[in-house]
Amino acid sequence: MKKILFVTSEAHPLIKTGGLADVCGSLPKALADLSQDIKLIIPNYQALKTSENVRFLCSIRVDNRNINILETRMPDSHVIVWLVDYPAYYNYPGNPYVDEQGESWPNNAERFGLFCRIAVEAAMDRVHQDWKPDIVHCNDWQTGLVPALLSLEHGRPSTVFTIHNMAYQGLFPGSTAAVLNLPGKLWHPAGLEFHDMLSFIKGGLVYADYITTVSPTYALEIQTPELGYGLEGLLDHRKEFLGGIINGIDLDQWNPETDPYITQHFSAATLNKKQLNKYELQRRFSLPDNERIPLFGLIGRLVEQKGIDLILECLPEMITMDMQFVLLGSGDKDFEKQLQKLAHLYPDKISITIGYDESLAHLIEAGADIFLMPSRFEPCGLNQMYSQRYGTIPIVRKTGGLADTVVDTLPETLANHTASGIVFNEASSGSLLEAIKRAMILYSSPDTWKKMQSNAMKKDFSWQSSAEQYLALYENL
Ligand code: ADP
Ligand code: GLC
Repeated sequence: MKKILFVTSEAHPLIKTGGLADVCGSLPKALADLSQDIKLIIPNYQALKTSENVRFLCSIRVDNRNINILETRMPDSHVIVWLVDYPAYYNYPGNPYVDEQGESWPNNAERFGLFCRIAVEAAMDRVHQDWKPDIVHCNDWQTGLVPALLSLEHGRPSTVFTIHNMAYQGLFPGSTAAVLNLPGKLWHPAGLEFHDMLSFIKGGLVYADYITTVSPTYALEIQTPELGYGLEGLLDHRKEFLGGIINGIDLDQWNPETDPYITQHFSAATLNKKQLNKYELQRRFSLPDNERIPLFGLIGRLVEQKGIDLILECLPEMITMDMQFVLLGSGDKDFEKQLQKLAHLYPDKISITIGYDESLAHLIEAGADIFLMPSRFEPCGLNQMYSQRYGTIPIVRKTGGLADTVVDTLPETLANHTASGIVFNEASSGSLLEAIKRAMILYSSPDTWKKMQSNAMKKDFSWQSSAEQYLALYENL
């Protein structure tokens, strides 16, 4: 049995802005199910919600500040959670990273720098809980200083750093290194320095004993200039200690047979009932309730990564077809405006909901026929897996985890029962439109469509095998 300290800036259902939370909420549970002794550490944000009791654990002094650590559990699990409680840094309303205008909180370097320091104190059991982990598993830039700081400690645990998204690196002016009081030993171009800036993510990439990405394809892609953001050389240098482990999904939370957020439960054997969820979507968004009109869905952050610009380019032609489109998301204000304008012009075809809505996300997965995910890059992506589990056929671009989890529909993949979606190559509106047209043709053949749905619904997206891969990695370190 390994003792694992899992360090993250978000975890569902405590706090979530995206897929990082889904993974950091469900992977620790999967590791606990494999009988590992795992604790999660996370900042105590104002918006953090838990149904479990919270108790005071201890108080420590770091950088002349008194910080409390509180203890709770992940709801419905044995995973212990340590909350780093420092109101001056974490008791802000709303989102953990940005204010209401979408601007980064001005003191993010200090906020996550302090979080990293506390994680190091916990990792070295300087919080005096008689619990010293064997492994410290860090996630994304917010935790990047942990492997760096731990590298200076004697008798330290082994470190794993998981990259969920290389596009976010935690870059701050070089002067921040002094503000954070970082040891001089870490401040050089082969350390935390990146073109005169302080790079949090480099702390993970340079100093972690092992680096993982959330899909095997993304592990290769970030070693190229296109997706390496200038860090491809470093990653190539470390490639012996770099590998991809595909994310799993929480099969309890995303289960069409029990999902409390959807109108009608269904399974592969009762696929006709899926229809009632589609009617509910059509009713809710005042779209004509017609079973035969293919309904496209999209849920996500409205940013360039997700190929929203490609969708905007396709929509003028899409509305000439017999189709409906339901989108839920928020992000880039310009994308939001353009999408809302189209919805206003074509209210019987397009419905745009700007915002964050967990229950609507489930209903869209259940009620849509086709899920759009034309990402320019996608480290893993979870919605294409949720879609497949709900018999909603994803259209994805062949990149990162999308390439690893969706099988294109071709004569041979239909014959060998693996066809589960529609995959296109080029990040262009032309290629996306072609894929959309291909989907429309396949949809018009109910027998073929049903085969694709049933293949998709049978796929194993559980954490089992991926959690075992993490465990094997921990054991090797
Ligand atoms: P990313 O982490 O890059 O945003 P993922 O596909 O890995 O993308 O995960 C996104 C997660 O966030 C999914 O669980 C998705 O349902 C959820 N999500 C994204 N936007 C919204 C929204 N507006 N409302 C509800 N859930 C959302
Ligand atoms: C990131 C990525 C997404 C991935 C998620 C969880 O937010 O953008 O592709 O699924 O992390 O690992």
